[in-house]
Amino acid sequence: MATIDPNLFSLLKFPKNESEVYFTGDLPWLFKDVEYYKTYWLNKKNEFLNFHKVNQANIESELKHGKNLGSATRTRLEVLKKAHESNYLTLAQILKSLDVAAAPSFDVAVPSHQSLHLYRKNLFRDWGWVTNENQHAVDLITEVVGANWKPNRTCVLGTGASRLAMDLHKEFHLPMTVAVDFNPLLLLVANEMLKGASIKLWDFNTAPVELDSVVKEFELKSNLGNLSGFYLVCGDVTELPFKDHQFNAIVTPWLIDILPFSFKLLAQRVNQLLEIGGSWVNFGPLGFSHRDESMNLTRPEIAEQWKECGFEFESEKVSAIRYLSSDSEVNSRNETVYLFKIKKVKNVPVEPFEYLPNWLLNSNKPIAVSDELQRHKQLIRFQADLFHSIDGKVSLSQIAQLFAQHYKMPADTALAMATNVLRQFEESIKRK
Ligand SMILES: C[S@@+](CC[C@H](N)C(=O)[O-])C[C@H]1O[C@@H](n2cnc3c(N)ncnc32)[C@H](O)[C@@H]1O
Repeated sequence: MATIDPNLFSLLKFPKNESEVYFTGDLPWLFKDVEYYKTYWLNKKNEFLNFHKVNQANIESELKHGKNLGSATRTRLEVLKKAHESNYLTLAQILKSLDVAAAPSFDVAVPSHQSLHLYRKNLFRDWGWVTNENQHAVDLITEVVGANWKPNRTCVLGTGASRLAMDLHKEFHLPMTVAVDFNPLLLLVANEMLKGASIKLWDFNTAPVELDSVVKEFELKSNLGNLSGFYLVCGDVTELPFKDHQFNAIVTPWLIDILPFSFKLLAQRVNQLLEIGGSWVNFGPLGFSHRDESMNLTRPEIAEQWKECGFEFESEKVSAIRYLSSDSEVNSRNETVYLFKIKKVKNVPVEPFEYLPNWLLNSNKPIAVSDELQRHKQLIRFQADLFHSIDGKVSLSQIAQLFAQHYKMPADTALAMATNVLRQFEESIKRK
């Protein structure tokens, strides 16, 4: 049975007892509401595995029933089928520890667009592709922190497939690194890398030109050897499990702009994790996409905010880099990253973070009718009525006439709306 290392457990504010720590394999899950995450990620696991299964079955059927398939097309379909089948088996094995659990309530804030495969390319970049991108990241960070940087206790937030966290641990001879992410697939793979295992996984190319670049199998493995003092933790950055002031360094690689809360709320939480004199090292783009424009910060605005949050400037660097780059990767990007190292000089209060409305957190509260909800309600009602009225006999113009009367709208508007909804539906089932 998996146990938690006492050095790691001593940093935690929850759970209170070691026996309450939940594990997938030997990976500790340190969420406030573990039950919710178990169900969330189990659903995502089923969705992900199903994706490979359904694709494999569809391709099989195309191969069997497809008329006039050229031999090159057959070859492509065969290799795609093999890749789906193989990834299904490999991923089912990696994810088998995500067991069934019942969720009592919906009271945590995993943004629902988070899927297990959202950052799958990072698995290849970190552990499979031949690329100098990982070394470049270490070099840039070294320029900002200095070659002699050696915090006693480092926490990497949003560690992903964890190559950078492990490289930093090794390169700087860090005594203790705690690497946190809420995506169990990335962490389970990272954990296999830590143990020296190797995993064969197929990488799907979204825009292949040649037959042999449609899919490619990579062997994911680490050459970093044993990393004593390196810990992987499945946890949520918005609700971290650590007691206050436990770390001398916090690293945020490619994270600050994708969190659901503002930079200021993150800075307060990083402050809370650090002891006085500890450093916050950031590396990544500033691609904030909050609806409130005031939250989409640039470099000088970030500097204003960290001062308010108890930090002092130490060093910074802006660099243009390639992201997810390898010979076979068509989706690699050019990004401008902002690196900073700032020092905590005083404690600041931490404002609460409210992401979801109260009525979602407490199922007994009445659901508030916001303008957005009202608009959505009308749209959904129209769509539901539309799909419901389809019985195999009625035509689009008959539906439009009925809807024009019912919704008191011009007939041509009703026809355009109904056509658009059904057109979108028909288009969506033809796409991947
Ligand atoms: C853009 S990826 C970067 C991954 C890694 N740092 C790297 O540089 O390759 C962002 C990572 O943050 C993680 N993440 C996003 N929101 C998080 C949250 N609230 N708690 C924990 N991890 C989170 C994602 O799962 C993902 O692994």
